[in-house]
Amino acid sequence: MLSSRPTLWAILAVFFASTLSTLWYIYGSNAALPRPLDLTTPLWCPAIDKPSVTTEGSFLPVKDAPITPRFRDTLLPDHGYITAFPHAGWTNDVMGTAHLILLALLTRRTPIIPPYHPSHLPKASGLIRFGEIFDVKKLSAGINIPILEWDDVKNMTDEERNKDPRTRNYWGGEKEEVGCWALWPTQGTATRHRGVSAESVNLDVSWTPVPFGHPVKPHIIDWNLHALAELGFPEGHKAPELIPFPNSAGHQIDPDEQLFCLDFIYFVGLYEGGNEWWRESGMIWHSVARHMHWAPPLRSLAHEFLSSILGIPYISTDPIPPYIAIHVRRNDFKKICHSVAQEECMAPLSAYAKRVAEVREGLRGKGFKNTSEEELKVIVLSDEPRTTPPNDASYPPGSSEKFWKEVDDLGWLWVDHDTWGTVEKYGMWYTVLLEACIQSLGIGFVGTDKSTMSSIAMRRTQEWSGGVGLLVKWGTLNADAHKIRSLMLEDF
Ligand SMILES: *[C@@H]1O[C@H](CO)[C@@H](O)[C@H](O)[C@H]1NC(C)=O
Ligand SMILES: *[C@@H]1O[C@H](CO)[C@@H](O)[C@H](O)[C@H]1NC(C)=O
Repeated sequence: MLSSRPTLWAILAVFFASTLSTLWYIYGSNAALPRPLDLTTPLWCPAIDKPSVTTEGSFLPVKDAPITPRFRDTLLPDHGYITAFPHAGWTNDVMGTAHLILLALLTRRTPIIPPYHPSHLPKASGLIRFGEIFDVKKLSAGINIPILEWDDVKNMTDEERNKDPRTRNYWGGEKEEVGCWALWPTQGTATRHRGVSAESVNLDVSWTPVPFGHPVKPHIIDWNLHALAELGFPEGHKAPELIPFPNSAGHQIDPDEQLFCLDFIYFVGLYEGGNEWWRESGMIWHSVARHMHWAPPLRSLAHEFLSSILGIPYISTDPIPPYIAIHVRRNDFKKICHSVAQEECMAPLSAYAKRVAEVREGLRGKGFKNTSEEELKVIVLSDEPRTTPPNDASYPPGSSEKFWKEVDDLGWLWVDHDTWGTVEKYGMWYTVLLEACIQSLGIGFVGTDKSTMSSIAMRRTQEWSGGVGLLVKWGTLNADAHKIRSLMLEDF
């Protein structure tokens, strides 16, 4: 008996303790109770429940006063904002913008969109506003939140810097210190942040590595976007033991609560990362990216250019004429062929031609008329140079000329920036922008597998024109070999 007493006491002690803790949980300190989110907390944009987008345009959550050289002067004190910075090729930076806007939706903040950087273009191309490329009003109406750009909140005009095309319209204003989150030092082996372009809007940032690793899937570097969203809320923001890197003034600043800012958010995802953008159910596409339409002036330019390529008169009020676009990406993909010989690695034009035939077939299946070669022209966009670069082992003598001769022989058209004077008339950015437009405004598209530029063009074609898009595989000899989808194909 004696020996069982301690056991009994132990059981009773546990029973009382748990009962007490339950009672305490029910009647005691509020701190132990899960509390509902207080959505009246100022930073949750009270104004967002007003109709934020009207037919006259967007309501913009900024002070009704001239824009000063300090963004802090412009922000509404009881409103939350979010920003992040580009640091990749342009298409990937566009994807990063969609991530930023989705994070804005998830955190109920207003996005402040940064300008794009000329990563694959000469530095003298300068920075370009998001709103010069995309239709901000339409996007704002599509997702029903207001959208700001950095020059809406900070006057960066600077006479000296404006003389240099590399710094025109940016880098001016007052240098402002701010604390931001950095994903990059936690994602790979890098120790630095990847938000260097924050300097172009004159921010002196003290970066704090995100206090967790939350890969969407094991062994990939894409962080979970929803986990990042928690950092934009008061409880999630209170991560333990944050150690900010000092900024250039040597100040260590905790991440800002009003302006939730992050370094580089290309490598993020919700359930898969990487390919999830291109999945049928891809949420980033469905919730945000499909609303990112071309800005009307850029679209008009593309329309005009297309008319000239197709040899028809340009009438601005007419709809864009139907065509099939092909994106043959070769230049930089060659470098990842490794031991596979180039002629075996890059898909031949015949593989693209086979896909074009399938696109015509698919369009007929969808009820499009006039899909014959005569009536529905093909326009080729490629990074293959017009003339073979000399002294470059990756270009056998005459290879570029051979490529373009084959394009001509197939009866396909191509984009000629030299004749159209794209760079002289509109600047270097417009070579890339017009090509992206032309890739996405046809009713058919054939692209290069694994290219984000191709993949996004395909989705745009499918979404905006109800068109048909296919990708050509590459990497080994006959990588794209496949059975023709329909016997009907033989008839055309
Ligand atoms: C920005 O500042 C410049 C120089 O002070 C001034 O000329 C310009 O009007 C300002 N722009 C805006 C939008 O306030
Ligand atoms: C198809 O082409 C014919 C002849 O080129 C033209 O008359 C007709 O309007 C076109 N149909 C459509 C739907 O574009």
